Amino acid sequence: MKITKICCIGAGYVGGPTMAVIAQKCPHIQVTVVDLNVDRINAWNDPNTDNIPIYEPGLSEIVAEARGRNLFFSNNVEKAIDEAQVIFISVNTPTKTYGKGKGMAADLKYIELCARQIAKIAKENKIVVEKSTLPVRTAEAIKSILDNTGNGVQFQILSNPEFLAEGTAVTDLLDPDRILIGGDTTPEGEKAINALVEVYSNWVEKDKILTTNVWSSELSKLTANAFLAQRISSINAMSELCEKTGADVNEVARAIGMDSRIGSKFLKSSVGFGGSCFQKDILNLVYIAKSYGLSEVADYWEQVIIMNDHQKRRFSNKIVQTLYNTVADKKITFLGWAFKKDTNDTRESAAIYVADDLINEQAKISVYDPKVSRSKMLSDLDYLATRSSTENENLVQVFDDAYAACNNAHAVAILTEWDEFKTYDWKKIYDSMQKPAFVFDGRNILDKKEMEAIGFVYQGIGS
Ligand code: NAD
Ligand code: UGA
Repeated sequence: MKITKICCIGAGYVGGPTMAVIAQKCPHIQVTVVDLNVDRINAWNDPNTDNIPIYEPGLSEIVAEARGRNLFFSNNVEKAIDEAQVIFISVNTPTKTYGKGKGMAADLKYIELCARQIAKIAKENKIVVEKSTLPVRTAEAIKSILDNTGNGVQFQILSNPEFLAEGTAVTDLLDPDRILIGGDTTPEGEKAINALVEVYSNWVEKDKILTTNVWSSELSKLTANAFLAQRISSINAMSELCEKTGADVNEVARAIGMDSRIGSKFLKSSVGFGGSCFQKDILNLVYIAKSYGLSEVADYWEQVIIMNDHQKRRFSNKIVQTLYNTVADKKITFLGWAFKKDTNDTRESAAIYVADDLINEQAKISVYDPKVSRSKMLSDLDYLATRSSTENENLVQVFDDAYAACNNAHAVAILTEWDEFKTYDWKKIYDSMQKPAFVFDGRNILDKKEMEAIGFVYQGIGS
């Protein structure tokens, strides 16, 4: 089967960039990305591609090249489903906030809605691709809905999880470590797998395209995120021990990372990992293990989350303790609010939790982030429901200039590793602050010796 028309349901951080790259690399395929969210689609269609809703280095150029040629963004979900041979489901799968599995299981209501809509519209055989991260065996549920409510047409369900990281989405998509495609081992299943392999082989070498059964593919995605997050919690656990013993976590990370069996990547100690997926996917894994009665497996992975929560709390506690056990009415400036550099995404960012803790201690928080808006920061805090929106508005001040944000502050806390923070005139910042001037570097991006030479009381993580 030659694919000429693709539809993707969900124009978010995954659907948007993934489809933009498929469209760029496959000019012979018409790619339509649909979403229920009208504002989001309007932003994807903004004539100025700098205004697309997701900030990712290199993305606006790709959208500018392909949009209107073979890349389209639309709210007309039904039409796009009807026309496509392949439908990617790339909707959100957040942690459930109600009912059975509340706070742990993935909420699959958006996935089910997509399956029901596809079943209703489809009049010809289609390949349905799980792009969202899903619990193992979700394909079974999707198949059951499609087969029992559809118009008698044949569906093949493939699992094709996405491994891109935000901030590097475009390079990850253009040059992936691997593409994973899981499908049925029947002849029809293999045909569907091959059709998707053909799409990716327009730019990815064939030996990097891995095919497996559906369940292995679904579970590999959760496993990959669990392993990645586990490395961060492992090094963060060591950071606390380093602080007690005089060891330096950067030196420890370097020393162990040179062992080729361990590897050097993903060993940066920090204020704690954030992002929309690590926590949600591990909680989901824990829930799945528990539901099979595997309590040791569940407890093992849950510890990764417990350690991460501890690391965030430890950072805010350290600020309070160092500032003579009170931050009441003190100005604490946050540099960074995004969960990592080079993205405007703030989901589960450590900054939100640290700010919440410090506001509970009656601190006055000032924030500068090069890509995150004030309204986003306030809605992140409101979402925690710790206090009223009006209180959050009164206690958090947002600046569009870092020097102004730091002026007169008692302490600066670095929450995101934006490159520009390293290039600031820190002497100028020091001169404008209250004394002693404290810097809490939650990302270990500044040089301790240089900061101390300026006069700062500097504390990084794990040294
Ligand atoms: P997102 O919230 O940015 O985007 C999801 C979009 O789906 C939203 O715009 C929403 O309006 C839309 N949507 C929901 N239900 C819909 C429906 N029935 N019809 C049409 N549109 C609908 O989410 P995301 O970050 O792109 O994540 C999507 C999935 O990909 C999740 O399962 C996530 O775990 C996974 N994932 C995310 C990343 C990442 O870096 N963000 C990386 C790999 C995998
Ligand atoms: C992560 C994975 O890296 C992707 O492979 C996966 O596709 C994605 O989750 C997903 O499923 O959503 P992402 O969350 O976008 O990607 O970004 P990461 O680079 O993994 O960073 C996650 C968090 O860990 C950030 O807060 C980051 O600052 C933190 N981190 C990362 C560390 O604290 N130390 C490190 O060494 C690396």
